[in-house]
Formats: sequence, structure tokens, C-alpha cells
Amino acid sequence: MIGVVCLNPALDITHHVAAVDWAGVNRPSAVYARPGGKGLNVARTLRAIGAEVLVMGLAGGVTGAGVESALGELGVPAAFTRIRGETRRTFAVVDGRSGDSALFNEPGPRVGVDEFTAFSVMYEKALGGCAAVVLSGSLPLGLAADTYARLIEMGATAGVPAVLDAQGEAMALGAAARPAIVKPNLAELEAWAGRRLSTERGADRAAVAAAARELRAAGAQAVVASLGAQGLLAATEDGGWQAMPPAAVAGNATGAGDAVAAGLAHGLVLGRPWDERLRHAVALGTATAAAPVAGEFSPADYTSVLDAVTVHREEARR
Ligand SMILES: Nc1ncnc2c1ncn2[C@@H]1O[C@H](COP(=O)(O)OP(=O)(O)OP(=O)(O)O)[C@@H](O)[C@H]1O
Ligand SMILES: [Mg+2]
Repeated sequence: MIGVVCLNPALDITHHVAAVDWAGVNRPSAVYARPGGKGLNVARTLRAIGAEVLVMGLAGGVTGAGVESALGELGVPAAFTRIRGETRRTFAVVDGRSGDSALFNEPGPRVGVDEFTAFSVMYEKALGGCAAVVLSGSLPLGLAADTYARLIEMGATAGVPAVLDAQGEAMALGAAARPAIVKPNLAELEAWAGRRLSTERGADRAAVAAAARELRAAGAQAVVASLGAQGLLAATEDGGWQAMPPAAVAGNATGAGDAVAAGLAHGLVLGRPWDERLRHAVALGTATAAAPVAGEFSPADYTSVLDAVTVHREEARR
């Protein structure tokens, strides 16, 4: 089983309106509500590729209850610690006439120390049944920046490797706790390194590889940088690797990085060698970027991209 930590889940609500009137009453022609937040995307992708998962998160209020029941309907097992605050919602309003969409993302609840302690007790017990854990997304208000670092250390004590997909201080402190894999995207790696790693033509591979090696030296056992249509670049105990999708796709790339995190965790648990691990991770990312709905993919796309991904060792210094 793969444990997926989701400390700041959301209910993502989308309203489709024929022509938005910002001064009047609008009647959406279609309304969609689905559980969101990066961890839940990871869990859904893992379920879709047949992995056993357990979502571990914090949920509060009617929105938290809604997230829990929606996950149940999707067949995603979850153990939520109840909190006093209300789980956040995100609203997307899509204007059918202009094609524009506006996003409204609530900040989410402030989490109390007692609530995180209750979560930690549950997490520590659940680790006994986990082959790996994935820690994804932003931390809610009230939790210290070293929260992921602490969860990674608890995993290590229980012999459970961690995959970390976070940004800023949560990533920096988490990486120092020696997770098995850290997965920054280009912007996140640039922010950590404090310098540009790209040109007008896209990611500068040599610069990304150097920063990935530095992040590895800072504690991460492996670093897999995701570079959008330019695929993945990894610094691992087995050297540097590049994995490229066959072509850039145009769909909805939101959540493609979460699909990569899912593929990396799955490959870790299966003990796949790095080339195969990266091949699957790229194929899941690209299939997800090709699908019109954020975070979803068609299994047929996954299979066809998988055959066409190119993976090779990086020639530069290890
Ligand atoms: N336009 C694209 N064409 C082909 N593949 C893509 C494209 N965008 C993303 N991908 C695939 O998805 C992977 C992850 O994408 P990206 O680097 O954009 O992640 P991310 O920024 O972490 O995304 P998010 O945080 O929204 O989930 C890439 O490594 C690549 O395999
Ligand atoms: Mg990401």
C-alpha cells in the first residue's frame, strides 16, 4: 500500500456559465464538484494504475465531509483526522462566451497543534501497512515548515521511504530529512537554487542537472526535476538520467506533476530500475497533460506514450 498525505485537501467546484454577468445573477448550465488538492490527484492516479493507496489527511466541516464522501464514491480509501476548521473550496467560473475562466482559491483552515498531533498518531500507525508514502502539496496554515521533514523522519524510522512534492521551505527542509525522491518542477528548483535554470528556449538541461545534484547533496536520495514538455531530468544514486516524451501535447497540464509523483512512488515500491521508473513517470505525466480534465488521463494514451518515451543516461559528471 502507498500512503498519500494530503494535509490541505479541497473541494474543487467548477461552474460553466454561458456569459458571466459580474453585476447580476448567473445561472450555471453545468456544475462539477470533485475532491482536489495535489495529494488527492496523486491518489487517484495511483488507483487508476492499480496501486493500493491510503489517503491520510485533515478534513473539517461540511466541505471536509463532502471530500471524504466523494473519495469514497471514487473508491479511494482514506483516513481523515477531523479538524475544527472548514476544509477549503476552490471555485472555477468558466465563461462560455469568452472561454476565460476565473479561479477563486480559498486559503483553507488553520490547523491546531492538537489536531496535527492526532494526525501524527494515526500516520505512525498507518506506516506499518505502507511500502512508501507520498507527501504532496502546500501545508495548511498553522503547520510549521518542517512538517514534511518530520513525517519523512517518522517514515524512515518505520523503514518507509518517502516521495516529496512540495515547494519553498517545506521542500528545502523536507529534502534535508533524506526522502527517497524529491520532485520539483523547474520553477520550484529555480526558487530553491536561487538562480535561473532556463533560457527563452526552455530549461537549460546542464543547469537543471547541476541544481538537481546540489539538492541531492543537500539530503534528498534522488531528485527528479519535471520540465513540462521537456520531460524529466533525474539525479540518482545510479547517476543522472533524462526521460523525454515523444512530443509536446496540448491538453490540460494541471496535475501532470502529480501524475509523475504517482508514477515515481509506484516504481519505487515495485523496485523498478531508474530507466523504467522514469519511463512510466513521464508517460503518466504526458498522458495527464494530454487529457482535457485536470489530473485525469486515458489509459490508452498512457500505453502509447510509454512505448515512445526515450530514456538515457546523462553524459555529464555524475
Ligand atoms: N505540454 C506537455 N507535453 C508533453 N508532456 C508534458 C507536457 N506538460 C507536462 N508534461 C509531462 O508531465 C510531466 C510533469 O509536468 P510539469 O513539469 O509541468 O509538472 P508540474 O509543474 O509539477 O505540474 P503540476 O504541479 O500542475 O502537477 C512532464 O515531465 C512531462 O512528462
Ligand atoms: Mg507540481
